Amino acid sequence: MENGPSSWNELQERVTQLTQECQREIEQAANGAALQEVKVRWLGRKGVVTQLLRGLGDLPATERPRAGQVLNQLRQQLEASFAQRESSIIAQEKAERLERERLDLTLPGRRAPLGHLHPLTQALGEIKAFFIGMGYQVVEGPEVETDYYNFQALNVPKDHPARDMQATFYLAPDLVLRTQTSPVQVRTMERQKPPIRIIAPGKVYRNDADITHSPMFHQVEGLVVDEGIRFSDLKGTLIAFAKALFGQDRRVRFRPSYFPFTEPSAEMDISCTVCGGKGCRVCKGEGWLEILGSGMVHPQVLEMAGYDPERLTGWAFGMGVERVAMLRYGIEDIRLLFENDRRFLAEF
Ligand code: PHE
Repeated sequence: MENGPSSWNELQERVTQLTQECQREIEQAANGAALQEVKVRWLGRKGVVTQLLRGLGDLPATERPRAGQVLNQLRQQLEASFAQRESSIIAQEKAERLERERLDLTLPGRRAPLGHLHPLTQALGEIKAFFIGMGYQVVEGPEVETDYYNFQALNVPKDHPARDMQATFYLAPDLVLRTQTSPVQVRTMERQKPPIRIIAPGKVYRNDADITHSPMFHQVEGLVVDEGIRFSDLKGTLIAFAKALFGQDRRVRFRPSYFPFTEPSAEMDISCTVCGGKGCRVCKGEGWLEILGSGMVHPQVLEMAGYDPERLTGWAFGMGVERVAMLRYGIEDIRLLFENDRRFLAEF
């Protein structure tokens, strides 16, 4: 920088020019990063203004204070301009971000899918509700059962041909996976005094598998024992049950049957839930569907449980829960109940 008024005027002019130039760059900086770059170029350690301030040393001592003042003013002014632009960029970026991240708080939330009861649990719930309403107690027994309770105490001695009715899983010579819930009849009679009025739901096991048989399935046993219990009690209760579960206009019939632990024995059919009795694929043209086995408790069974068959009589039934669920909800393949495909289960 030169000495004298001309160099002074030059300095003034240069400062004005630089100010304008810098202001323009500040205005044009589109975002924080660009502004920062401009700032470094002007005010940084090697920036334009810093270089000018360094040049002060070359001026004569008399010029230095005034020139210094002018350059310092320039720096302060530019600093202020940068600060202003910075805050307006910050405000603008914030506004843009808010706009971009705008949330519609009035949108309904995403619901976590609710689970619900398995169709078997639902069917069992309906069965239980009916009998609990009639004053029955719900009891349970073991799934690993002795040969005695599963067979012998139910009037099925060792080597009796009736054992063939149930393909049994033996765990040991005298231990089985129970093939029916009927052993709970015996356990209940041994434990309680009459009058007895129980149902016993639970898992049972047979070596069978096809579209209507599963090696594990569920039964509900029923047992009533007291003085003066008659076959008409069996019929009345089971007819009321069938109508409660399958509809008041459902027709019901009893067919003579055989179980070693009941005499007489009867199977109960209901009119087909699909065709209403005309005959179709589901009822195999019969118009009827079997839903349970039943009968008057065999005197031999009462006696083995320690009851006096001269004084006490009873009736019992056993039904398949899968079968009830399949008829109730129109399910044609028992395996669907155990595959746990949520698309299937969600339909009930
Ligand atoms: N336990 C028999 C079965 O599994 C059903 C039944 C129970 C029959 C009680 C009569 C009385 O086939």
